[in-house]
Amino acid sequence: MLVTGGASGLGRAIVDRFVAEGAVVTILDRSADRLGEVAAKHGDAVRVVAGDVTSQRDNLAAVAAAVDAGGGLDVFIGNAGLWDFGRRLLDMSMTELENGYRELFDVNVKGYLIGARAAAEALIERRGAMIFSLSNAAFYPRGGGALYTASKHAGVGLVRQLAYELAPEVRVNAVAPGAMSTDLRGPDALGLQDRSITDVLPNEDAMKRFSALDLAPRPEAYVGTYVLLAARSESATVTGTVFDISAVGTPKR
Ligand SMILES: NC(=O)c1ccc[n+]([C@@H]2O[C@H](COP(=O)([O-])OP(=O)(O)OC[C@H]3O[C@@H](n4cnc5c(N)ncnc54)[C@H](O)[C@@H]3O)[C@@H](O)[C@H]2O)c1
Repeated sequence: MLVTGGASGLGRAIVDRFVAEGAVVTILDRSADRLGEVAAKHGDAVRVVAGDVTSQRDNLAAVAAAVDAGGGLDVFIGNAGLWDFGRRLLDMSMTELENGYRELFDVNVKGYLIGARAAAEALIERRGAMIFSLSNAAFYPRGGGALYTASKHAGVGLVRQLAYELAPEVRVNAVAPGAMSTDLRGPDALGLQDRSITDVLPNEDAMKRFSALDLAPRPEAYVGTYVLLAARSESATVTGTVFDISAVGTPKR
């Protein structure tokens, strides 16, 4: 299987869980240092490819590494993303908006699309699955600004269309987690490359404000849904769906 953005946060939790389930996992991530840490922990169970999800070449290299490691590709998880820290429309100049759009959509939307394109044929061969990390922002406002919310809504369209095009061989679904403490960064174009979402969600109380269930989940809390969607034996009838596991849609009492 192949996971993008698997060196940190949610992606790292996905990698740890799938390795525990016995999978051989290839990771495409731009952080070479963190890839080294994952490789040191998991040894032969992971392959790492240092590269950028916006690059055709790096996506193709990652798929080739995953096929080589697993004798084929069963699961592609598009997960690497950027956040806009809820930057409001009126707080961006036109230039920031345009450049921020390009940078954020390049990762959150184009990265998913070209990753899917690179993986599709290998997945068809194995009757595999694609899973994308979306967000509460794929359904509701307030999980980001207009750039992030629009990018995650775009992900819903991607899932529906690819599920249609790739059926019956490949099931295509997404998971929409809610807030969690990770190292999620923002675009350079908005000066947010060195900020982390943890600066904004510094403690459990800040996260619980968003959850109807009063939870401040760690990334590990969300990964069970990925396991479910990856296993055809557990989710044979599921495609074109986004599992909203954010507990944001139910109003907080
Ligand atoms: N943290 C949250 O509250 C939250 C909530 C809902 C959804 N999400 C989604 O979860 C996903 C994972 O984010 P996270 O919170 O774990 O963040 P994170 O920054 O901890 O992990 C993301 C990883 O992606 C990598 N990455 C970023 N841009 C890349 C690029 N261009 N090429 C290759 N690798 C790149 C980073 O190096 C990092 O290792 C994202 O799609 C995000 O939108 C996060």
